[in-house]
Amino acid sequence: MGSSAKFWDKIAQKYAAQPIKDEQAYAKKLEITQGYFSPDMSILEIGCGTGSTAIKHAPHVSQIRAVDVSPKMLEVAHDRAAEAGVSNVTFECSTVEDMDLKPESYDMALALSILHLLEDRQTAIQRIFAALKPGGRFVTSTVCVKDGFGLLGMLIPVMQFIGMAPFVAKFTATELEADFIKAGFEVEMNTKPGHKGVAFMVLKKPQ
Ligand SMILES: C[S@@+](CC[C@H](N)C(=O)[O-])C[C@H]1O[C@@H](n2cnc3c(N)ncnc32)[C@H](O)[C@@H]1O
Repeated sequence: MGSSAKFWDKIAQKYAAQPIKDEQAYAKKLEITQGYFSPDMSILEIGCGTGSTAIKHAPHVSQIRAVDVSPKMLEVAHDRAAEAGVSNVTFECSTVEDMDLKPESYDMALALSILHLLEDRQTAIQRIFAALKPGGRFVTSTVCVKDGFGLLGMLIPVMQFIGMAPFVAKFTATELEADFIKAGFEVEMNTKPGHKGVAFMVLKKPQ
């Protein structure tokens, strides 16, 4: 098992118990995302964690494939989906880097709090671009440490040293936007509904 899976496995129960930090921003992101949905849509979520967002979106679409590297996060996700009576979400244990992706097979992809955790973000973005149907959307919410995370941002290396933080790539929202454009996406929305260090973007694969 990779070090990333080990880290997330270790904190899965604690993560699952944490309340949403900014309810208002979270609700806004759900609302924007659901504005794009139609009942026939096939969705891919990478880094789905404990499945909370996929479960909220599930009633509005046909199916969701939710992928995460951590078996323990996925255990919580399975339990939560069963409790909610949601049966159109498939949870799968894989990395973004290794998961099997067929070209042009999804109407939308979601990456919520995951892109900053990847060592090769650009390749992941390119893989998502290829997996989307023409006109498909990529909805992302990403920690952009270089846009201002104050003391916490400065403490990341110390926390990593003592095993309390995973790998975190440092970039601004503008730099992230450039990565999406490089992969071929059009930027439909680039906003910060909550914390100034968290960018919410909607990218479109051209028709
Ligand atoms: C900060 S959590 C976000 C979880 C969820 N998306 C949310 O918004 O609550 C990051 C998640 O990404 C997963 N993850 C980290 N690196 C990954 C990778 N390379 N491939 C797939 N999942 C990964 C972790 O296991 C964890 O569940």
